[in-house]
Amino acid sequence: MVRLMVNGSAQEVSADEDTPLLWVLRDTLGLTGTKYGCGLSQCGACTVHVDGEAVRSCQTFAADLDGAEITTIEGVTGAVTDAVRAAWLDLNVVQCGYCQSGQIMQAIALLARTPQPTDAQIDAAMTGILCRCATYGRVRAAIHVAADMLGS
Ligand code: FES
Ligand code: FES
Repeated sequence: MVRLMVNGSAQEVSADEDTPLLWVLRDTLGLTGTKYGCGLSQCGACTVHVDGEAVRSCQTFAADLDGAEITTIEGVTGAVTDAVRAAWLDLNVVQCGYCQSGQIMQAIALLARTPQPTDAQIDAAMTGILCRCATYGRVRAAIHVAADMLGS
């Protein structure tokens, strides 16, 4: 058994040593806001926070996370999250939506660490989150808007 704190709730789950965190979240815990894209750590659709860091849950093994704090799109809260959510809505960032929980979780992790990121810092942080709808320009603009909200 693996003990995880998921969105503030203590969970004990059984997982083989090679079970991805993504499957524990989606299949065991029913948290389907985190998406499966490539399974190869290449697209970022599965991004969640582990102890505050953005990680690709498709290539993170649940068995290695005993005692870790996991946050998914369903449970992320706080001032940075509120600003990101408001900016995403203001700029109508979302198109089909498939990549967006990954985009948002990565953006929150970026702003938590770098409250006023430059374009280059945004691009460096967000480069691993692919969007087939090419919302990249709006994502970058929304991160600046969220940073402005947090700074004012
Ligand atoms: S599903 Fe994890 S990076 Fe693509
Ligand atoms: S909004 Fe469609 S894949 Fe990003």
